[in-house]
Amino acid sequence: MSMLRLDKFLADMGKGTRSELKRELKKGLVTVNGKTEKSPERKIDPETDQVVYRGEPVCYEKFFYYMLNKPPGFVSATEDRRERTVMELMKGASGKGLFPVGRLDKDTEGLLLITNDGELAHRLLHPGRHVDKVYMAELAGPVTEEMIRLFAEGLDIGDDKPALPARLVVLENGPRARTEITICEGRYHQVKRMAEAVGSRVLSLKRLSMGPLKLDENLPAGHYRPLTQEERQELGTG
Ligand code: URA
Repeated sequence: MSMLRLDKFLADMGKGTRSELKRELKKGLVTVNGKTEKSPERKIDPETDQVVYRGEPVCYEKFFYYMLNKPPGFVSATEDRRERTVMELMKGASGKGLFPVGRLDKDTEGLLLITNDGELAHRLLHPGRHVDKVYMAELAGPVTEEMIRLFAEGLDIGDDKPALPARLVVLENGPRARTEITICEGRYHQVKRMAEAVGSRVLSLKRLSMGPLKLDENLPAGHYRPLTQEERQELGTG
């Protein structure tokens, strides 16, 4: 692996900005192979040199993976001139170049994978892969057998091709029906447009899973956590 400046290595591992880290280095808070190192220019090999910052070893990692429980009110983008983005909820997360994998609408909640692994994002989002996404949706109801059948057949939602068959399961029927909807594509406003195509309307929407990755019920809205080793393995990145 190529040599890196010490301040850049620490910044890439999410320990702060380079100017912050220069100050930390001056204070003697970093050791390299057991010796205090104060120079930000010191070149290190991230794979063989042992860097310790504030008493904690800093291990080299190329890719970072987080589960975010997206609250409503944030757009799924890295930057936006008007709106708050989900990346504003990722303060303190390690890793350079993080981005959300796919989009949830501003008013949609739930599971959003945040990573800097472009290959994984490509695998999960590629239209040919048909990765299942499960949503908890409150629909203007009641939901009828006919609506369930139409979802299962594949609905015309105004695109060139009809949506692929989807599963609509009613958990609690009524004027505000609680349902679970499984789709295997990721078209723009897909669930909302499918609901409208059967004469209903989405009243609230929350993503529960994406492929093998399930929203952690203990993760409060607006919070994130790193994926576990097991979750990473299930996604084929562990
Ligand atoms: N379908 C939608 O309509 N909106 C989302 O945010 C996700 C799926």
